[in-house]
Amino acid sequence: MKIAIGNDHAATDMKREIIEFVEGLGHETINFGTDGYESCDYPLFGEKVGRAVASGEADCGILICGTGVGISLAANKVKGIRCGVCSDTTTAHLIKEHNNANIIAFGTRIVGSEKAKDIVRAYLEAEFLGGRHQQRVDMIMDIERR
Ligand code: RB5
Repeated sequence: MKIAIGNDHAATDMKREIIEFVEGLGHETINFGTDGYESCDYPLFGEKVGRAVASGEADCGILICGTGVGISLAANKVKGIRCGVCSDTTTAHLIKEHNNANIIAFGTRIVGSEKAKDIVRAYLEAEFLGGRHQQRVDMIMDIERR
């Protein structure tokens, strides 16, 4: 898969580790995040990854900031994006199986890098279950059209 990755200054080191991990799993990455440590604005990166996923340039996305919250809020403002914060592996597979999330987010101040890798793997290996979940995802997406 082609995976868009974005981060702010708080998560530059974790982003590097996650890129290495994801590429080690055989995926391609597109780095939309900052590579520096100077304070910068997470909405920029949430939007970039959101647009890459919504346009089909990437199959899905990974966003990392201090908590994962701010950057996920920004991504969710892009039409077509379903992004949620995952701090555990159960949420990480259910967010795909039930919510068909196309981006996951997490916080470098909340989870360590080994947990972050487990979260990423759980999300990437999960599959959307469809059925009753499709109807609910459709209801979410319908909110954008009203
Ligand atoms: C940056 O200090 C911090 O606010 C940001 O990384 C993130 O946690 C916001 O939600």
